[in-house]
Amino acid sequence: MQLKNKIALITGASSGIGKEIAKKFAEEGALVILTSRNPEKLKIAQEEIEKNNCNADSFVMDTTNRKQINSVVSKIIKKYKKIDLLVNNAGIAKWNSIEDVSYEEFDAQISVNLTGYFNCIKEIVPYMLQKKSGTIINIVSGSGKRARPGTVAYTASKFGAAGLSDAVFEDVQDKGINVTAIYPGRTNTPIHKIPENDPRRKTMLKTEEIAKLALYIATLPQNVKIKEISIRPLE
Ligand SMILES: NC(=O)c1ccc[n+]([C@@H]2O[C@H](COP(=O)([O-])OP(=O)(O)OC[C@H]3O[C@@H](n4cnc5c(N)ncnc54)[C@H](OP(=O)(O)O)[C@@H]3O)[C@@H](O)[C@H]2O)c1
Repeated sequence: MQLKNKIALITGASSGIGKEIAKKFAEEGALVILTSRNPEKLKIAQEEIEKNNCNADSFVMDTTNRKQINSVVSKIIKKYKKIDLLVNNAGIAKWNSIEDVSYEEFDAQISVNLTGYFNCIKEIVPYMLQKKSGTIINIVSGSGKRARPGTVAYTASKFGAAGLSDAVFEDVQDKGINVTAIYPGRTNTPIHKIPENDPRRKTMLKTEEIAKLALYIATLPQNVKIKEISIRPLE
């Protein structure tokens, strides 16, 4: 029970990596707060966790909607008094080249994958600073370090998120707050629009591997800093 008495807010917790991190943190005793846009998917994820005799709560929270983030975070603080862990994970992907990418696709990915991370950090950091403690984990991507052809908007958004994480680390690292960027390689989740039985899924990371890494980071003492870490499958 390494996260007993901890309150963890996970964005994009209704699916894939975020859902798995929520499960893992809950198994370790945290009260996990699942957030995403879709109430039905959130409810299913919350029930899966509670069935395991773990503690979970959920809120609809679109990370591009600052008003909604403010309202949800205020409710959480009123109910639970603090947020110990923030996992910025909510993300979207539409892979296209510069010729094919639309202005809308570009804006949408920047808005969720970069500005959405900023919005949540900006809202929650003051509460962590008050307590002089907290951990922020930003799920970036290998695409935040190196571009592949045909990924222009996604890559730009992830390089942005990488810079954001790095800069926030510098601002709060001596104020009791740990900030870590995780750069996963391809991971088997619904973000990949290929059939469930597509053989490419077999070579991807499992969400469990990312969740184990997130747990390790979440349990580090304040004086031990992992600014960034990459995890990738054999390619
Ligand atoms: N899978 C990979 O290969 C891989 C590799 C590297 C990095 N990543 C990153 O890992 C993160 C999670 O991706 P995943 O693979 O687990 O994908 P996923 O299964 O599609 O999950 C994405 C999650 O984000 C939520 N979401 C999307 N837009 C949102 C918004 N505006 N506000 C709030 N929630 C929103 C979705 O829930 P709702 O639809 O309910 O809102 C869902 O819970 C993303 O940041 C992704 O870029 C993934």
